[in-house]
Amino acid sequence: MNSEFPIGIFDSGIGGLTVAREIIELMPNEKIIYFGDTLHLPYGEKSKEKVVNYCSKICHFLLSKKCKAIVIACNSASSLALDYIKTEVGSNSIIFNVIDPVVDCVNNLQNKKIGIIGTNATINSKVYESKIDKLKKKLSVFSLATPLLAPMIESGFHDASIKKKIIATYLKHNKLKEIETLILGCTHYPLIESEIKNFYNKKVNVISSLNAIGLHIKNKLQKKKLLNETQNSEKHEFFVSDLTTSFQNSSKIFFNNDINLKEKNIFNEK
Ligand code: DGL
Repeated sequence: MNSEFPIGIFDSGIGGLTVAREIIELMPNEKIIYFGDTLHLPYGEKSKEKVVNYCSKICHFLLSKKCKAIVIACNSASSLALDYIKTEVGSNSIIFNVIDPVVDCVNNLQNKKIGIIGTNATINSKVYESKIDKLKKKLSVFSLATPLLAPMIESGFHDASIKKKIIATYLKHNKLKEIETLILGCTHYPLIESEIKNFYNKKVNVISSLNAIGLHIKNKLQKKKLLNETQNSEKHEFFVSDLTTSFQNSSKIFFNNDINLKEKNIFNEK
């Protein structure tokens, strides 16, 4: 493995772009290869078997592109497929997930009542509860599945008042009524972070932890001497399994039009 090899990042759609942007900002010498599995989103509503199968194909695709690290930039995939991915490709590439760095942030919090929102897959897996439990900090965790949010964000839904109502309907839920901190347990949610913060009007600490995720990856690559020290002259590459208009629009907004985006259906290939 070589420090000049790229970092692979994947998600079901545009959510992982929030992680990709953070990585590019923190590690400007790195080349990114992104895969958005738009053909199969939302992952949060799929069975474990299906998600594991999609992740396996994506990881092998990223390995074929010589990725030194693979970032599972999706909470649903991290919840359902992390163990499988580590076993299957962990000896060929460094595997990062987006849940552990967030749990590390919880470890440093003073608040005791923590809310988590995420997809059905993430919330039903109870992965956050079990990892937070291991911190032995006697925290109360209140989790709520908010399955409409990721598809709403992915579709580029812009009607502000309906968006506000959907967000408020979830956040007013009884389960979240006492929380002091809210974890955004889906990589799509930083895209509506300001609306969520507006709902709470500073009464609740809202954390997406993108920066913590980026720093965690940077530190680990540095320790393993795999951080690219030379300037990257190659363009980042973005692949999607289905070239949707919303992905095209969002990725251009994220990366100022300067993007090399291709459709690639890796699922039919032998
Ligand atoms: N961005 C993904 C996550 O963090 C999920 C959205 C989905 O495909 O359901 O869970």
